[in-house]
Amino acid sequence: MFPRVRLRRLRRWRLIKETQISVDDLILPVFIDETIEGIGKRPVESMPGQYRFSIESAVEEVSEAESLGIKSVLLFGIPAPESKDENGSGAYKKEGVIQRAVRAIKKEHEDLVVITDLCLCEYTSHGHCGLIENGIVANDPTLEVLGRIAVSHAEAGADIVAPSGMIDGMVKAIREELDSTGFTDTAIMSYAAKYNSALYGPFREAADSGFNHKFGDRSSYQMDFSNAREALREIELDIAEGADIVMVKPAIFYLDIIYRVSASFGFNLPLAAYNVSGEYSMITTASEKGYLNREEVMMEGLVAIKRAGADLIITYFAKEAAKLLSRNRI
Ligand code: PBG
Ligand code: ZN
Repeated sequence: MFPRVRLRRLRRWRLIKETQISVDDLILPVFIDETIEGIGKRPVESMPGQYRFSIESAVEEVSEAESLGIKSVLLFGIPAPESKDENGSGAYKKEGVIQRAVRAIKKEHEDLVVITDLCLCEYTSHGHCGLIENGIVANDPTLEVLGRIAVSHAEAGADIVAPSGMIDGMVKAIREELDSTGFTDTAIMSYAAKYNSALYGPFREAADSGFNHKFGDRSSYQMDFSNAREALREIELDIAEGADIVMVKPAIFYLDIIYRVSASFGFNLPLAAYNVSGEYSMITTASEKGYLNREEVMMEGLVAIKRAGADLIITYFAKEAAKLLSRNRI
Protein backbone atom coordinates (compact mmCIF):
# COMPACT_ATOMS: atom_id res chain seq x y z
CA MET A 1 0.00 0.00 0.00
CA PHE A 2 0.98 3.62 -0.48
CA PRO A 3 3.34 5.10 0.57
CA ARG A 4 5.54 2.01 0.27
CA VAL A 5 4.07 0.97 -3.07
CA ARG A 6 4.60 3.52 -5.81
CA LEU A 7 3.88 2.41 -9.36
CA ARG A 8 5.71 5.47 -10.62
CA ARG A 9 9.02 3.84 -9.73
CA LEU A 10 9.09 1.56 -12.75
CA ARG A 11 7.55 3.94 -15.24
CA ARG A 12 10.89 5.39 -16.26
CA TRP A 13 12.10 2.28 -18.07
CA ARG A 14 11.44 0.60 -21.42
CA LEU A 15 12.34 -2.57 -19.57
CA ILE A 16 8.83 -2.84 -18.17
CA LYS A 17 6.96 -2.46 -21.47
CA GLU A 18 4.34 -5.20 -21.65
CA THR A 19 3.59 -4.88 -25.34
CA GLN A 20 5.90 -4.12 -28.21
CA ILE A 21 5.27 -4.21 -31.90
CA SER A 22 7.92 -5.47 -34.23
CA VAL A 23 8.34 -4.79 -37.93
CA ASP A 24 7.90 -8.57 -38.30
CA ASP A 25 4.23 -8.16 -37.32
CA LEU A 26 3.37 -5.68 -40.05
CA ILE A 27 1.71 -6.39 -43.39
CA LEU A 28 1.57 -3.62 -45.99
CA PRO A 29 -1.47 -3.43 -48.30
CA VAL A 30 -0.62 -2.49 -51.91
CA PHE A 31 -3.16 -1.45 -54.57
CA ILE A 32 -2.22 -2.39 -58.12
CA ASP A 33 -4.10 -0.70 -60.94
CA GLU A 34 -4.12 -2.35 -64.34
CA THR A 35 -4.72 0.96 -66.12
CA ILE A 36 -1.54 2.62 -64.86
CA GLU A 37 1.47 2.08 -67.09
CA GLY A 38 5.23 2.16 -66.66
CA ILE A 39 6.49 3.30 -63.29
CA GLY A 40 3.42 5.43 -62.65
CA LYS A 41 1.39 5.74 -59.47
CA ARG A 42 -1.76 7.68 -58.69
CA PRO A 43 -2.67 9.15 -55.30
CA VAL A 44 -5.78 7.87 -53.55
CA GLU A 45 -7.63 11.05 -52.68
CA SER A 46 -9.53 9.60 -49.74
CA MET A 47 -6.33 8.18 -48.22
CA PRO A 48 -3.69 10.92 -48.32
CA GLY A 49 -0.23 9.37 -48.63
CA GLN A 50 -1.52 6.17 -50.27
CA TYR A 51 -1.30 5.29 -53.96
CA ARG A 52 -2.49 2.98 -56.64
CA PHE A 53 0.55 1.53 -58.35
CA SER A 54 1.28 0.16 -61.78
CA ILE A 55 2.71 -3.35 -61.69
CA GLU A 56 6.18 -1.98 -62.26
CA SER A 57 5.91 0.66 -59.54
CA ALA A 58 4.36 -1.87 -57.17
CA VAL A 59 7.58 -3.87 -57.46
CA GLU A 60 9.46 -0.72 -56.40
CA GLU A 61 7.08 -0.05 -53.55
CA VAL A 62 7.54 -3.58 -52.31
CA SER A 63 11.34 -3.23 -52.56
CA GLU A 64 11.17 -0.15 -50.38
CA ALA A 65 8.98 -1.95 -47.86
CA GLU A 66 11.38 -4.87 -47.80
CA SER A 67 14.35 -2.58 -47.24
CA LEU A 68 12.51 -1.21 -44.19
CA GLY A 69 12.28 -4.74 -42.81
CA ILE A 70 8.67 -5.49 -43.74
CA LYS A 71 8.21 -9.22 -44.36
CA SER A 72 4.82 -9.34 -46.04
CA VAL A 73 2.49 -7.48 -48.38
CA LEU A 74 -1.23 -7.85 -49.09
CA LEU A 75 -1.99 -7.21 -52.75
CA PHE A 76 -5.23 -5.83 -54.20
CA GLY A 77 -5.78 -5.99 -57.94
CA ILE A 78 -7.77 -3.24 -59.62
CA PRO A 79 -8.76 -4.28 -63.14
CA ALA A 80 -9.64 -1.89 -65.96
CA PRO A 81 -13.29 -0.80 -65.52
CA GLU A 82 -14.26 -2.17 -68.93
CA SER A 83 -13.05 -5.65 -67.98
CA LYS A 84 -15.55 -5.99 -65.12
CA ASP A 85 -18.53 -8.24 -65.72
CA GLU A 86 -21.51 -9.74 -63.86
CA ASN A 87 -19.55 -12.81 -62.81
CA GLY A 88 -16.19 -11.21 -62.03
CA SER A 89 -14.48 -13.51 -64.51
CA GLY A 90 -11.44 -11.21 -64.66
CA ALA A 91 -10.53 -12.38 -61.17
CA TYR A 92 -9.06 -15.70 -62.30
CA LYS A 93 -7.45 -14.76 -65.61
CA LYS A 94 -3.88 -15.93 -66.03
CA GLU A 95 -2.95 -12.49 -67.37
CA GLY A 96 -5.11 -10.64 -64.84
CA VAL A 97 -3.63 -7.70 -62.96
CA ILE A 98 -3.11 -9.55 -59.70
CA GLN A 99 -1.64 -12.66 -61.33
CA ARG A 100 0.86 -10.55 -63.31
CA ALA A 101 1.71 -8.49 -60.23
CA VAL A 102 2.35 -11.55 -58.07
CA ARG A 103 4.66 -13.03 -60.69
CA ALA A 104 6.58 -9.75 -61.05
CA ILE A 105 6.95 -9.30 -57.29
CA LYS A 106 7.85 -12.92 -56.53
CA LYS A 107 10.46 -12.89 -59.28
CA GLU A 108 12.40 -10.15 -57.51
CA HIS A 109 11.48 -10.86 -53.91
CA GLU A 110 11.45 -14.57 -53.40
CA ASP A 111 11.46 -14.43 -49.60
CA LEU A 112 8.76 -11.82 -49.22
CA VAL A 113 5.48 -13.33 -48.04
CA VAL A 114 3.00 -12.38 -50.74
CA ILE A 115 -0.64 -12.42 -49.69
CA THR A 116 -3.43 -11.82 -52.20
CA ASP A 117 -6.86 -10.45 -51.35
CA LEU A 118 -9.26 -12.97 -52.79
CA CYS A 119 -12.65 -11.50 -53.60
CA LEU A 120 -14.97 -10.77 -56.47
CA CYS A 121 -15.97 -7.20 -55.65
CA GLU A 122 -13.14 -5.51 -57.55
CA TYR A 123 -14.04 -7.59 -60.61
CA THR A 124 -17.84 -7.55 -60.71
CA SER A 125 -19.79 -4.85 -62.54
CA HIS A 126 -22.29 -4.72 -59.66
CA GLY A 127 -19.57 -4.36 -57.01
CA HIS A 128 -20.69 -7.21 -54.75
CA CYS A 129 -18.42 -9.89 -53.27
CA GLY A 130 -20.23 -12.81 -54.92
CA LEU A 131 -22.38 -13.98 -57.80
CA ILE A 132 -25.86 -12.51 -57.95
CA GLU A 133 -28.99 -14.63 -58.26
CA ASN A 134 -32.49 -13.19 -57.87
CA GLY A 135 -31.02 -9.86 -56.84
CA ILE A 136 -28.93 -11.12 -53.93
CA VAL A 137 -25.44 -12.55 -53.41
CA ALA A 138 -25.84 -16.28 -53.89
CA ASN A 139 -23.61 -18.02 -51.39
CA ASP A 140 -23.07 -21.54 -52.74
CA PRO A 141 -22.59 -20.77 -56.44
CA THR A 142 -19.89 -18.26 -55.44
CA LEU A 143 -17.78 -20.95 -53.76
CA GLU A 144 -16.67 -22.57 -56.98
CA VAL A 145 -15.46 -19.27 -58.40
CA LEU A 146 -13.51 -18.51 -55.22
CA GLY A 147 -11.74 -21.86 -55.53
CA ARG A 148 -10.84 -21.04 -59.09
CA ILE A 149 -9.46 -17.60 -58.16
CA ALA A 150 -7.42 -19.15 -55.35
CA VAL A 151 -5.76 -21.58 -57.75
CA SER A 152 -4.95 -18.78 -60.19
CA HIS A 153 -3.27 -16.82 -57.37
CA ALA A 154 -1.36 -19.87 -56.21
CA GLU A 155 -0.20 -20.62 -59.77
CA ALA A 156 1.11 -17.05 -60.00
CA GLY A 157 3.13 -17.67 -56.83
CA ALA A 158 1.06 -16.28 -53.95
CA ASP A 159 2.19 -17.68 -50.60
CA ILE A 160 -1.09 -16.93 -48.83
CA VAL A 161 -4.55 -16.28 -50.23
CA ALA A 162 -6.86 -14.11 -48.18
CA PRO A 163 -10.56 -14.61 -48.93
CA SER A 164 -12.36 -11.42 -47.91
CA GLY A 165 -15.92 -11.95 -49.09
CA MET A 166 -17.45 -13.50 -45.95
CA ILE A 167 -19.07 -16.22 -48.03
CA ASP A 168 -20.10 -19.17 -45.83
CA GLY A 169 -17.92 -22.18 -46.57
CA MET A 170 -15.30 -20.19 -48.49
CA VAL A 171 -12.32 -21.52 -46.56
CA LYS A 172 -13.38 -25.14 -47.06
CA ALA A 173 -14.02 -24.65 -50.76
CA ILE A 174 -10.68 -22.91 -51.29
CA ARG A 175 -8.71 -25.46 -49.26
CA GLU A 176 -10.23 -28.33 -51.24
CA GLU A 177 -9.55 -26.69 -54.58
CA LEU A 178 -5.96 -25.78 -53.65
CA ASP A 179 -5.26 -29.29 -52.37
CA SER A 180 -6.75 -31.04 -55.36
CA THR A 181 -4.61 -28.96 -57.72
CA GLY A 182 -1.41 -29.64 -55.79
CA PHE A 183 -1.11 -26.35 -53.90
CA THR A 184 -1.05 -27.95 -50.50
CA ASP A 185 1.51 -25.43 -49.22
CA THR A 186 -0.47 -22.34 -50.15
CA ALA A 187 -1.83 -20.96 -46.88
CA ILE A 188 -5.20 -19.36 -46.21
CA MET A 189 -5.62 -16.22 -44.16
CA SER A 190 -9.35 -15.82 -43.75
CA TYR A 191 -11.12 -12.53 -43.24
CA ALA A 192 -13.09 -14.56 -40.72
CA ALA A 193 -14.79 -11.90 -38.64
CA LYS A 194 -15.32 -9.05 -41.05
CA TYR A 195 -17.87 -6.45 -40.06
CA ASN A 196 -20.15 -4.47 -42.33
CA SER A 197 -18.31 -1.26 -41.49
CA ALA A 198 -18.55 2.31 -42.72
CA LEU A 199 -14.80 2.48 -42.11
CA TYR A 200 -14.20 0.82 -45.50
CA GLY A 201 -15.39 4.01 -47.22
CA PRO A 202 -11.95 5.23 -48.36
CA PHE A 203 -10.93 1.73 -49.52
CA ARG A 204 -13.83 1.62 -51.91
CA GLU A 205 -12.38 4.61 -53.73
CA ALA A 206 -8.87 3.17 -53.46
CA ALA A 207 -9.80 -0.19 -54.96
CA ASP A 208 -12.68 0.93 -57.12
CA SER A 209 -14.82 -1.57 -55.36
CA GLY A 210 -18.37 -1.50 -54.16
CA PHE A 211 -18.78 2.21 -53.44
CA ASN A 212 -20.86 2.19 -56.60
CA HIS A 213 -22.99 -0.85 -55.69
CA LYS A 214 -25.72 -1.01 -58.27
CA PHE A 215 -28.11 -2.26 -55.54
CA GLY A 216 -28.18 -3.26 -51.91
CA ASP A 217 -25.32 -3.26 -49.41
CA ARG A 218 -23.07 -5.88 -47.84
CA SER A 219 -25.13 -6.55 -44.73
CA SER A 220 -26.28 -9.98 -45.93
CA TYR A 221 -22.74 -11.34 -45.86
CA GLN A 222 -20.67 -9.04 -43.63
CA MET A 223 -21.29 -9.00 -39.88
CA ASP A 224 -23.52 -6.65 -37.91
CA PHE A 225 -21.31 -4.46 -35.73
CA SER A 226 -23.64 -5.02 -32.79
CA ASN A 227 -22.51 -8.63 -32.54
CA ALA A 228 -19.53 -10.07 -30.71
CA ARG A 229 -20.56 -13.63 -29.90
CA GLU A 230 -21.16 -14.26 -33.60
CA ALA A 231 -17.52 -13.37 -34.34
CA LEU A 232 -16.38 -16.32 -32.24
CA ARG A 233 -18.57 -18.65 -34.31
CA GLU A 234 -17.25 -17.20 -37.55
CA ILE A 235 -13.69 -17.72 -36.35
CA GLU A 236 -14.38 -21.21 -35.05
CA LEU A 237 -15.94 -22.30 -38.34
CA ASP A 238 -13.10 -20.93 -40.43
CA ILE A 239 -10.56 -22.73 -38.25
CA ALA A 240 -12.53 -25.95 -38.68
CA GLU A 241 -12.63 -25.41 -42.45
CA GLY A 242 -8.85 -25.16 -42.54
CA ALA A 243 -7.84 -21.51 -42.14
CA ASP A 244 -4.15 -21.11 -41.26
CA ILE A 245 -4.55 -17.54 -40.02
CA VAL A 246 -7.79 -15.80 -39.03
CA MET A 247 -8.49 -12.09 -39.15
CA VAL A 248 -10.67 -9.57 -37.37
CA LYS A 249 -11.58 -6.47 -39.35
CA PRO A 250 -11.66 -3.49 -38.71
CA ALA A 251 -9.23 -3.19 -35.80
CA ILE A 252 -9.34 -0.09 -33.63
CA PHE A 253 -13.15 0.05 -33.19
CA TYR A 254 -13.09 -3.73 -32.65
CA LEU A 255 -10.45 -4.25 -29.98
CA ASP A 256 -12.97 -6.11 -27.84
CA ILE A 257 -13.46 -8.60 -30.67
CA ILE A 258 -9.71 -9.01 -31.12
CA TYR A 259 -9.42 -9.59 -27.39
CA ARG A 260 -12.19 -12.18 -27.27
CA VAL A 261 -10.89 -14.05 -30.30
CA SER A 262 -7.39 -14.02 -28.93
CA ALA A 263 -8.59 -15.24 -25.54
CA SER A 264 -10.53 -18.11 -27.12
CA PHE A 265 -8.26 -19.12 -30.01
CA GLY A 266 -4.98 -17.28 -29.55
CA PHE A 267 -3.18 -20.44 -28.48
CA ASN A 268 -4.30 -22.27 -31.61
CA LEU A 269 -3.24 -20.13 -34.54
CA PRO A 270 -2.04 -16.65 -35.52
CA LEU A 271 -4.57 -13.84 -35.35
CA ALA A 272 -4.40 -10.92 -37.76
CA ALA A 273 -6.20 -7.59 -37.46
CA TYR A 274 -6.87 -5.18 -40.31
CA ASN A 275 -6.30 -1.52 -39.44
CA VAL A 276 -8.60 -0.38 -42.25
CA SER A 277 -8.75 2.56 -44.62
CA GLY A 278 -11.16 4.63 -42.49
CA GLU A 279 -8.92 4.24 -39.47
CA TYR A 280 -5.98 5.40 -41.56
CA SER A 281 -7.83 8.35 -43.07
CA MET A 282 -9.24 9.61 -39.76
CA ILE A 283 -5.79 9.81 -38.25
CA THR A 284 -4.27 11.22 -41.42
CA THR A 285 -6.84 13.97 -41.88
CA ALA A 286 -6.99 15.02 -38.24
CA SER A 287 -3.22 15.24 -38.12
CA GLU A 288 -3.08 17.23 -41.37
CA LYS A 289 -5.34 19.72 -39.64
CA GLY A 290 -3.01 19.80 -36.69
CA TYR A 291 -5.57 18.30 -34.29
CA LEU A 292 -3.64 15.09 -33.67
CA ASN A 293 -0.01 14.07 -33.74
CA ARG A 294 0.15 11.56 -36.60
CA GLU A 295 3.06 9.44 -35.40
CA GLU A 296 1.89 9.29 -31.81
CA VAL A 297 -1.69 8.36 -32.62
CA MET A 298 -0.55 5.84 -35.23
CA MET A 299 1.72 4.06 -32.75
CA GLU A 300 -0.86 4.20 -29.97
CA GLY A 301 -3.35 2.55 -32.31
CA LEU A 302 -0.94 -0.14 -33.50
CA VAL A 303 0.18 -1.00 -29.98
CA ALA A 304 -3.46 -1.15 -28.85
CA ILE A 305 -4.21 -3.68 -31.60
CA LYS A 306 -1.26 -5.80 -30.48
CA ARG A 307 -2.15 -5.41 -26.79
CA ALA A 308 -5.68 -6.61 -27.53
CA GLY A 309 -4.16 -9.83 -28.84
CA ALA A 310 -3.40 -9.54 -32.56
CA ASP A 311 -0.21 -11.23 -33.74
CA LEU A 312 -0.20 -9.61 -37.17
CA ILE A 313 -1.35 -6.16 -38.19
CA ILE A 314 -2.34 -5.22 -41.71
CA THR A 315 -1.86 -1.47 -41.89
CA TYR A 316 -1.39 1.36 -44.38
CA PHE A 317 1.00 2.79 -41.78
CA ALA A 318 3.38 -0.19 -42.13
CA LYS A 319 6.25 1.69 -43.79
CA GLU A 320 6.03 4.66 -41.44
CA ALA A 321 5.79 2.43 -38.40
CA ALA A 322 8.78 0.40 -39.61
CA LYS A 323 10.85 3.59 -39.83
CA LEU A 324 9.92 4.64 -36.32
CA LEU A 325 10.51 1.16 -34.93
CA SER A 326 13.98 1.06 -36.43
CA ARG A 327 14.74 4.24 -34.48
CA ASN A 328 13.43 2.55 -31.38
CA ARG A 329 10.80 5.20 -30.95
CA ILE A 330 8.21 2.99 -29.33
C1 PBG B 1 -13.01 -6.49 -50.36
C2 PBG B 1 -12.25 -5.81 -49.26
C3 PBG B 1 -12.61 -4.65 -48.55
C4 PBG B 1 -11.54 -4.35 -47.71
C5 PBG B 1 -10.58 -5.34 -47.91
N1 PBG B 1 -11.04 -6.23 -48.86
C6 PBG B 1 -13.79 -3.79 -48.65
C7 PBG B 1 -15.13 -4.26 -48.32
O1 PBG B 1 -15.37 -5.41 -48.02
O2 PBG B 1 -16.02 -3.44 -48.38
C8 PBG B 1 -11.45 -3.16 -46.78
C9 PBG B 1 -10.09 -2.62 -46.56
C10 PBG B 1 -10.03 -1.25 -45.98
O3 PBG B 1 -11.04 -0.55 -45.75
O4 PBG B 1 -8.90 -0.82 -45.73
N2 PBG B 1 -13.85 -7.49 -49.99
ZN1 ZN C 1 -15.28 -8.24 -51.66
